Amino acid sequence: MVFWFNSDRERGRVFAEAFARELPDLPFVMDVSERHPDEIRYVLTWTAPADLHRFRNLEIVFSIGAGVDQFKTETLPSNVMLVRMVEDGIARMMQEYVTLAVLALHRNLKAYIVQQAAATWRSLPVRQAAQQRIGILGLGMLAQAVIDRLKPFGFPLAAWSRSERRVDGVDCYHGSDGLTPFLAQTDILICLLPLTRETQGLLGGALFAALPAGAALVHVGRGAQLDHDALIAAVDEGHLSGAVIDVTEPEPLPPEHAFWRHPKIILTPHIASVTQPETAATAVIDNIQRHRAGLKPIGLVDRSRGY
Ligand code: GLV
Repeated sequence: MVFWFNSDRERGRVFAEAFARELPDLPFVMDVSERHPDEIRYVLTWTAPADLHRFRNLEIVFSIGAGVDQFKTETLPSNVMLVRMVEDGIARMMQEYVTLAVLALHRNLKAYIVQQAAATWRSLPVRQAAQQRIGILGLGMLAQAVIDRLKPFGFPLAAWSRSERRVDGVDCYHGSDGLTPFLAQTDILICLLPLTRETQGLLGGALFAALPAGAALVHVGRGAQLDHDALIAAVDEGHLSGAVIDVTEPEPLPPEHAFWRHPKIILTPHIASVTQPETAATAVIDNIQRHRAGLKPIGLVDRSRGY
């Protein structure tokens, strides 16, 4: 029984140390050719290796990322479990980034950066936090972590999820009927949804039109959820006041893409949240121990839902 770490060696060294300490009976390899394919029981990887079917005794594929849309789940053998990365380091980084983005939009940071470049000293109107309504698309682990971090600022908080959820201090909406009323009362929309057939292209013209005039977007979901032309149109018409975008399709964007130089868009290169090897190793080890004890791994993907 062997664990195969199929990712970068730097993070691999951190994992190898943690595995040697916590699971000394489970051999850990970064180079799979060192072992007979039948020995591989677990793999940690960003996406499914093309020859996955060679590993006939594989039981769990661990995603190195929080998202699993990069796996073609239909090509994974049906007896193999796919597990998302659920670890504290990702959640902490997402809390930082979304707080940064919300405050940047709330306090007009991009406009001041543009003014600075033009040597313009001018104050802009600012709303009180109690008047800035935040709406989060998604209510998974990352969204809940973000909500905890945003609460002390005093923004009114709402969230939308596919199925019904309740979170203390958050106005919760759900299902397709709940989406329009949720959007109608959202000034800063944060997308933290997984990429699925239903969420592909969701951030488009119809959704933007359902937001109040002057609303803004923070996009930390997946690139393919956002219609770039629709966003530029909504911002240029003045219906949306700005956006902070961390994920795009494609990545990276071509040099001539309008997001790079848009005066109302802040663009970052998919860095909002990155798996942290120390905490991720603990999460994966914990899941292997759960699996050995006959328990379901945390973050097990429901293939019919796609996350
Ligand atoms: C990054 O986007 C991830 O899925 O962890």
